[in-house]
Amino acid sequence: MTNQIALIGATGAVGREILRLLEERNFPVETLRCFASPRSAGKKVVFRGKKIALEVLRPSHFKEISIAFFCAGRKISAEFAPLAKQAGALVIDSSSYFRGDPDVPLIIPEINPEALGRHHGIISSPNCVTTIMLMALAPLHRRCPIKRIVAATYQAASGAGQAAMEELQQETLAHLENRPFERTVMPHPYAFNLFTHNSPLTESGYVEEELKMVDETRKILNDPKVQVTATCVRVPVLRAHSMALNVEFSGPLSAGQAYEILKTAPGLTLLEDRANNRFPMPIDATGKDMVYCGRIREDKTQPHTLELWIVGDQLLKGAALNAIQIAELFQKKELHAHP
Ligand SMILES: NC(=O)c1ccc[n+]([C@@H]2O[C@H](COP(=O)([O-])OP(=O)(O)OC[C@H]3O[C@@H](n4cnc5c(N)ncnc54)[C@H](OP(=O)(O)O)[C@@H]3O)[C@@H](O)[C@H]2O)c1
Repeated sequence: MTNQIALIGATGAVGREILRLLEERNFPVETLRCFASPRSAGKKVVFRGKKIALEVLRPSHFKEISIAFFCAGRKISAEFAPLAKQAGALVIDSSSYFRGDPDVPLIIPEINPEALGRHHGIISSPNCVTTIMLMALAPLHRRCPIKRIVAATYQAASGAGQAAMEELQQETLAHLENRPFERTVMPHPYAFNLFTHNSPLTESGYVEEELKMVDETRKILNDPKVQVTATCVRVPVLRAHSMALNVEFSGPLSAGQAYEILKTAPGLTLLEDRANNRFPMPIDATGKDMVYCGRIREDKTQPHTLELWIVGDQLLKGAALNAIQIAELFQKKELHAHP
């Protein structure tokens, strides 16, 4: 099997991690072409010790490409992913553009790998905060179906891309030095502050990020009955999203049972140090493949309901790692079909 890989958005927060993971996980790569915006023309990235010049994306670039990782935003995915697919590449898209399309599987390999069989050339990697949430909730849902999730998220700057991370650092410095600071990425003061998630506000009063959690949870769990309501918030953390979840199940599931199920859940680490009041923090998850879960307790106000606290590096499991795992899953299936 030849592996001509295209990475679209190679200079971005997600693209940089994909590049690193392709190398770290020893993903079979014959040739790698890296694309970014015209702003990056002339720059290079390094892969396996070799410099690769960044290219400006053109429709003809997908000839001979076997896997195209798209992480350059919705607009680029909308325009170029269908061309990549037409040229015969498998598209693994990190943007939200195709996630609602019934013909496009939305895959978290630990949860719904079987959805791969339904792809028609494009696979979507889900929303970052939804992925992190479901790493803990899907194994519980399998044991006892979830009726309703009430989520409050604490989302890091990196979820808004490389420029947002840089802006948070610069704004924090300016704040400490009592200098004025002009923001260009985030809509509100971010250093030592927090605000409602900066995705567009819809007529329903929910922001788009909150609605993604509803739609994508149902699609991934393949269960349209699961109710989800969320409040998404940006906090001045550089990397790794956190969330507090109140989860109502359709029957009894004790905190102890949940703990036992999650102890062996793939991709999940329990950090439940009650003696020291020490539970997962963003710095535990930063740069880590694992999603962390703790504070599993029974809600005293309502039957069949658990409280959980979950933290994960959304650039990794919430984006780049998940995209690579989809590619690995695809390769395994291909090898099986054509040994
Ligand atoms: N950040 C996350 O945690 C996360 C999680 C899940 C999904 N996603 C999704 O992943 C995608 C990338 O997010 P990100 O956070 O990595 O954003 P980012 O840091 O802003 O990076 C955007 C990338 O797209 C490139 N790009 C922009 N215009 C382009 C063009 N015309 N042609 C080719 N490349 C172009 C940029 O290149 P230049 O450097 O040249 O501008 C850069 O490499 C988005 O769709 C996002 O919704 C992000």
